[in-house]
Amino acid sequence: MAAIDYSEKIPNNVDLANERALQRALEHWQPRFLDWWRDMGPSDFARADVYLRAAVGVDAQGWAHYGTVKMPDYRWGIFLADAIPDRRIGFGDALGQPVWQQVPGEFRSQFRRLIVTQGDTEPASVEQQRRLGLTCPSLYDLRNLFQVNVEEGRHLWAMVYLLHAYFGRDGREEAEQLLERHSGDADKPRILGTFNEPIDDWLSFFCFTYFTDRDGKFQLKSLAESSFDPLARTCRFMLTEEAHHMFVGETGLGRVVKRTLEAMKEAGSDDPEAVRRRGAIDLPLLQRYLNFWFSSSLDLFGSEVSSNAASAFATGIKGRPDEATQYQDHVCSEATFELEQPDGRGGVTMEAVPMRNAMNEVLRSAYVRDCEIGVKRWNLQLQRAGVDFRLALPSARFRRGIGVWAGVPTDVAGKPIARDDFERRLPEWLPRAEDKAYVRGLMQRVVEPGKMAAWIAPPDRGINNLPLDYEYVRLS
Ligand SMILES: [Fe+2]
Ligand SMILES: [Fe+2]
Repeated sequence: MAAIDYSEKIPNNVDLANERALQRALEHWQPRFLDWWRDMGPSDFARADVYLRAAVGVDAQGWAHYGTVKMPDYRWGIFLADAIPDRRIGFGDALGQPVWQQVPGEFRSQFRRLIVTQGDTEPASVEQQRRLGLTCPSLYDLRNLFQVNVEEGRHLWAMVYLLHAYFGRDGREEAEQLLERHSGDADKPRILGTFNEPIDDWLSFFCFTYFTDRDGKFQLKSLAESSFDPLARTCRFMLTEEAHHMFVGETGLGRVVKRTLEAMKEAGSDDPEAVRRRGAIDLPLLQRYLNFWFSSSLDLFGSEVSSNAASAFATGIKGRPDEATQYQDHVCSEATFELEQPDGRGGVTMEAVPMRNAMNEVLRSAYVRDCEIGVKRWNLQLQRAGVDFRLALPSARFRRGIGVWAGVPTDVAGKPIARDDFERRLPEWLPRAEDKAYVRGLMQRVVEPGKMAAWIAPPDRGINNLPLDYEYVRLS
């Protein structure tokens, strides 16, 4: 089952050749996908030779094979992790029963919405990032951007396969619409807010891959627990690819910090102006970018109290990340969750809500803990350099657009404050027009093998043990 058949028009490990109708429907969608890639993907680089990894199998040996390809020739396909024999439902009211190989009729619309929402984010991010290649800080980074882009394209394939295979005509229509909505489009935007934010500089790209791809990780991890086995297997394989996207974000931001520390040392000063005169990114500016992308990504988890989340857990549709190893109680019919809420008078109250209704918040809290790991690492770099400044995640209450804290003015520590205070202090906390202009000014393309832009340090090592000055992208 692990081997992927590359002799097929659509590489796959789901025995597509023996499902003629499904195969025809997907082969009909394939040229539309390629049109979309040509129009909305990294179009200026269609003829470049890129050193990319591709899966040849879904086991540990097979999933990362490297070679040089032109992106439009990348073999997007359908790869599911191997089935777990006798897999049982791991949570909710049907705990212990066999998992489902088909979507139960009564859960059809819930599953369809989840799969469409996940599927929509994948091409959205490719659209958001399509112009970044023009200002890459190095060939190494350019290659990483393209690796992320082709894999997001494959994640779209993963969701489209499920829609075609299990949702009949509705699913095929949804698959069409996934190519019709576009990031930032006034008439047909992408479904989730963050995926309509433009990503036109590399600092935003690293923040996006650190914070927003990590939201993807947590969504995929909870869908990997689903009782609908084909969805679980699809997501399990997507997670192996997703890890690289977060690596790009974490190491990218770490390299920014490293270069900033060098500039501070050269200048003998931590004055942001002195850092900028050396073409690096000052730490307060970086902090404002972190504030923006973290708060924006938190909204992706939805409302703290959600009857949808409760029913998705109760019915076995969507679990918690690492359900089996991280939790004792897999039913949660009695448990409660202590939720912090604004009291409407400038304070905070605690309310016990049924655990099932708080599943979005459980997921968001796990996400926040995961986000802290990189911040700790960057702060260790600062500490080792003898610098007092520390980066920090803002409070999860700060600048929220969804949930109990939506529209409640707080400072970055989460303390409720007066609205006009909030408005006045926003330039302290979020990227200012001059920050964005400065960052934009830094975005000059560097494509000489081994060379780096002045605002970012080189990575510790190259891709797949190749030297740093390897020509990861050959531009034609
Ligand atoms: Fe993805
Ligand atoms: Fe991703």
